Amino acid sequence: MSLHPVIEKILFTEKQLDNKAKELAKNISEYYKKINNNKPVVLLGLLKGCVPFMANLMRHMTIPVTTEYMVVSSYGNNSVSSKTPQILLDVNQDIFDKHVLVVEDIIDSGNTLDFVQNHLKNRGAKDVKLVTMLNKPDRRETDVKVDWIGENIADYFIVGYGLDYAQRFRNLPYIAKIDLDKFNKYDWENE
Ligand code: IMP
Ligand code: MG
Repeated sequence: MSLHPVIEKILFTEKQLDNKAKELAKNISEYYKKINNNKPVVLLGLLKGCVPFMANLMRHMTIPVTTEYMVVSSYGNNSVSSKTPQILLDVNQDIFDKHVLVVEDIIDSGNTLDFVQNHLKNRGAKDVKLVTMLNKPDRRETDVKVDWIGENIADYFIVGYGLDYAQRFRNLPYIAKIDLDKFNKYDWENE
């Protein structure tokens, strides 16, 4: 497999990510089976990054679910988190008295999730839980509780499996570290 020149190294392969999603889906299904009387849980994906993880996760869930998506802006075309997220697309269905599971690609500062969690509680959700494929614990700025975590990683910028840098690389089936210096110098016009 030939890697794009700005990709430094692969951190998690497609197979590893698939296995992890399966394991999380199993644990999550077991949890809700015990407490939710077989009523549907609202899986709420945060676009755009959630797509591959959400798809993998929901295929392995063994409880009834419905799906929803939100678009919350938190980053521009750079790697610095903005602190005031904005809702660009909100949940469509009535979530009053429902169990909601927010599905995230990665938790960095935690500001996005903190904001989304408050928003969902204000809309009357019975309970809001969080699952993320990736977590950067060292970067946390809020004490948001993450209920299920795929992998903890150190503080470096990664792409693939839904994650982008300047909207690129979301389609990679693996998660990789990019060389930001090379990214900035790369001739994107004449690719
Ligand atoms: P938070 O509000 O700082 O927790 O931001 C979370 C969001 O930032 C994620 O949903 C991603 O969209 C983005 N993000 C954080 N770290 C990375 C990264 O290493 N690569 C790509 N996107 C990231
Ligand atoms: Mg995201």
